[in-house]
Amino acid sequence: MTNLATPASPPKSETVHVSLTVNGKPVTVEVDPRTLLVQLLRDHLLLTGTHVGCDTSQCGACVVLMGGDAVKSCTVLAAQADGASVTTIEGLAAGGTLHPMQEAFRENHGLQCGFCTPGMIMTAVDLVAHHGPGLTEQQIREGLDGNLCRCTGYHNIVKSIAAGAQAMAGGSGSGAKVAAE
Ligand code: FES
Ligand code: FES
Repeated sequence: MTNLATPASPPKSETVHVSLTVNGKPVTVEVDPRTLLVQLLRDHLLLTGTHVGCDTSQCGACVVLMGGDAVKSCTVLAAQADGASVTTIEGLAAGGTLHPMQEAFRENHGLQCGFCTPGMIMTAVDLVAHHGPGLTEQQIREGLDGNLCRCTGYHNIVKSIAAGAQAMAGGSGSGAKVAAE
């Protein structure tokens, strides 16, 4: 008689404990170790303003700030965010008042369907933090290298970021000169 080996039982599903700060609030979750930061934000915390356009680090729709730097949250494991401070698009507006960069996108028609917009705005905030309010059109365009807009509204996006940068510095100017279309 053939003695068939008993198949090994499937490995127990383990979870990891992740504690982080999201939009200023402390959060602790138990997640599968394979959970991505974007899944933690959208599926566990219901912060669905962070979008998933590709899941392959191409589109930038999932950009959030982690430790003040823009990251594509589809490329970060939730466990890697343990102890970090994360800001999503929901955390930008203060007490019902739009963040100056959000307001600049609204004023300058920096969005069409809006799908890419949260990632564009989070990237823009990071660009201003790194280059200051006087960032040039070229710096803006280079900084948007990892953010795709399928509506191809880049001209007004660049214009919005230039204006938003000035507004973040407390000015009301139109920011970097953006070439006419
Ligand atoms: S969903 Fe993260 S880069 Fe596209
Ligand atoms: S506004 Fe539609 S994808 Fe950018």
